[in-house]
Amino acid sequence: MKQQLAELFHRRYACHVFEPGRSIASQDLEFVLEAGRLSPSSFGLEHWKFIVVQSPELKQALQGACFQQAQVGGAAAVIVILAKLAELDPDSPYLRRLLEREYPDEQLAQALNNYRSFHAATDVRAWSVSQCHIAAANMMLAATAAGLDSCAIGGFLPDQVKAILQIDPAQYEVALILPIGYCAEKPHEKRRLPLTELVEYR
Ligand SMILES: Cc1cc2nc3c(=O)[nH]c(=O)nc-3n(C[C@H](O)[C@H](O)[C@H](O)COP(=O)(O)O)c2cc1C
Repeated sequence: MKQQLAELFHRRYACHVFEPGRSIASQDLEFVLEAGRLSPSSFGLEHWKFIVVQSPELKQALQGACFQQAQVGGAAAVIVILAKLAELDPDSPYLRRLLEREYPDEQLAQALNNYRSFHAATDVRAWSVSQCHIAAANMMLAATAAGLDSCAIGGFLPDQVKAILQIDPAQYEVALILPIGYCAEKPHEKRRLPLTELVEYR
């Protein structure tokens, strides 16, 4: 298990050219989405929503909103990960429903109070987007496990993406765009700093 996971970490890479015309089996696509769904999130609030774009016209339009990065239009599927905004409001029914699930009755009022203070002191948009990035990391690894490739795309114009997908900006922010498919280029060498440069033991 450890060895398999290590291999997946090494095998996953950012794919910039996908095989044209090769679609993804629906069970593999669902496997990737399931990895997102099962991801951990702050307060257990599942900050994400996944829009799966497979229409060629919409993929091309999204490519335009991603500075013409060709891996967006060329992918078999483009998963647009949206970060919840309005539903994170302390008075929203969604928030109450999910906190009820997380906390037993006798702790709920205190949890809601704590959440209200946290929400007021937090950059909610950045917080929500950061939770979605956790889901994205799991989805990229799941894609590798399913024999697929992916490329996280943070280079996009959020207002254009929202306009193309008719997303209400009060409801959602665009967190990340994740094209997936079968890569048509050879993976490059992993370029990473050594642990000695990254870790301090104290
Ligand atoms: C949040 C995030 C945003 C990224 N945005 C882009 C992007 O817009 N375009 C792109 O080609 N790669 C993008 N990447 C991919 C990185 O460039 C790539 O992961 C990094 O260079 C390491 O290479 P590797 O993933 O192949 O190991 C992004 C990665 C992350 C995690």
